[in-house]
Amino acid sequence: MTSDLTPIDRAKYASAHCAADFVQDGMRVGLGTGSTAAWLVRRLGARVRQEGLRIIAVPTSSRTAQLAREVGINVVSLDEARWLDLTIDGADEFDAELTLIKGGGGALLHEKIVATASDQMIVITDAAKEVKTLGAFPLPVEVVPFGWPATKALVEEVLASMDVMGRQSSLRMNGTQPYVTDEGNYILDLALGRIGNARQLSLVLNQVPGVVENGLFVDIADQVVIGHADGTVELRDLTTGTPESSVRQVDLEDARNIFSDL
Ligand code: 5RP
Repeated sequence: MTSDLTPIDRAKYASAHCAADFVQDGMRVGLGTGSTAAWLVRRLGARVRQEGLRIIAVPTSSRTAQLAREVGINVVSLDEARWLDLTIDGADEFDAELTLIKGGGGALLHEKIVATASDQMIVITDAAKEVKTLGAFPLPVEVVPFGWPATKALVEEVLASMDVMGRQSSLRMNGTQPYVTDEGNYILDLALGRIGNARQLSLVLNQVPGVVENGLFVDIADQVVIGHADGTVELRDLTTGTPESSVRQVDLEDARNIFSDL
């Protein structure tokens, strides 16, 4: 089973598998979106079925909600849960301060709301997503469909005064139609190349009429679990003020068991 996985998928699996151990009985947990988060959901489902782990989960997308239900996780809305102990989610890029770019999977709005409504956020990722400076990955910005070309023009205009390298934006497409988020909005992907000041950029983007939210997560993530293809996992915890790191080993053969009792 694991031999069928690409090195990146093995790294994602290792990260998600390790992070799933942070979930304890009785917790209210936010479930991220994307391929790394999908490994997490499968692993938590296995723990629910095999260990009788009792959790209440709030998914960050309709895709994650469907998978979570399929693997036997008790899914509720954020309105019902009100506040969460922990959210575990993937990222598209992260830096040393654990500032993130998210939204490659189109779920940034629910992801940011859920992560912010949690005591803790743990990022699960492969090592290739760590960067010195954010911005090589296009920054997703969720906008309302009404007047989106005007919003796009305004976004590009404000980028002129920001500490970024590029200012081109493109409407995300799904085939021939605009990609539509779970909230019925569109996404602009900003090709910035380099983001000098993520906090300032995030604040300024959210001031543009028509912008709902952007994919910069500043001061939201507390820990990162970085997976490698050989099953080693590095944990970094920023909650103590100074980064602490430790290394663990995940048995990649366990990937087989995730599917065996479904
Ligand atoms: C979805 C996200 C994802 O967490 C991000 O795109 C990473 O995805 P993957 O785990 O598939 O690499 O932000 O909106």
